[in-house]
Amino acid sequence: MNLPFPAGFFPLPGLPAGPATGTTPTRVSLVGAGPGDPELLTLRALDRLRRAEVVCYDHLVSTDILQLAAQAQQVCVGKRAGRHSLSQEGIHQLLIGYARAGLRVVRLKGGDPLLFGRGGEEMLALHAAGIDYEVVPGISAALGAAAMADLPLTHRDYAQGCTLVTGHRRADASHLAWTRHTHVESTVVVYMGLNEAGAISAGLMAHGRAADTPVAVIEHATTPRQRVTRTRLDQLAQVIAESDITPPALLVIGAVVAVHDVLQVAWAGGEG
Ligand SMILES: C[S@@+](CC[C@H](N)C(=O)[O-])C[C@H]1O[C@@H](n2cnc3c(N)ncnc32)[C@H](O)[C@@H]1O
Repeated sequence: MNLPFPAGFFPLPGLPAGPATGTTPTRVSLVGAGPGDPELLTLRALDRLRRAEVVCYDHLVSTDILQLAAQAQQVCVGKRAGRHSLSQEGIHQLLIGYARAGLRVVRLKGGDPLLFGRGGEEMLALHAAGIDYEVVPGISAALGAAAMADLPLTHRDYAQGCTLVTGHRRADASHLAWTRHTHVESTVVVYMGLNEAGAISAGLMAHGRAADTPVAVIEHATTPRQRVTRTRLDQLAQVIAESDITPPALLVIGAVVAVHDVLQVAWAGGEG
């Protein structure tokens, strides 16, 4: 028999230790919490949070957002810079267990659940277990950061497109293969790229990007701790090391960063 809770994990108070008999499983809501500012939640996300009985959340979700589900049991399932407090399989079993126990479950993820969020794996696991689910999209970090840093990701004069990639290192050697394929006229936004910044710069320059390509590193976007650090591609790793930049952060690489520069100068000069 498959227990609904991973080995060694605890059921919530009042929950059976095994599958509830005669209970209709609930639908699991995979909800995007956005990049941090609670005002960037969708109305549907707010509704699901207010009605939740259990919220399984990642580290990146802010306490301001968790407070919107203060009535719910809240379970931190980890995920920070590759360190998980629960394995991905453990998270699947937890969601399945709570749904089978008849609880309204929200799986709350930073940004959008389906972008670098392993939402796809969770959908597949729920589907395989015969559990219904829905996805409530969230504003991804790149979009929140772009808006709050006055940095358009595309612009007719600077970038015809935008590529969202992860800098997170996989066990295989081809994890930065994308540096070969991004078009020189497109903006590149790198998620989880701080640790690999040197390799990313080198890869992009080896495949045609100029050393002086503008880069903005945006930390803690949309929160009171937001900070934008400007540099250029060949100095990226050094600037990250010297500027005490901390995650979560995005690297925005490309000519569009010039728009941010113009707007920042304008604001600093009191225009607008
Ligand atoms: C596991 S990914 C999750 C991405 C998320 N699903 C999304 O759509 O934004 C975590 C990475 O997203 C980026 N990120 C998330 N929130 C951020 C924020 N508020 N400011 C800057 N980067 C952020 C960072 O690169 C961080 O390491």
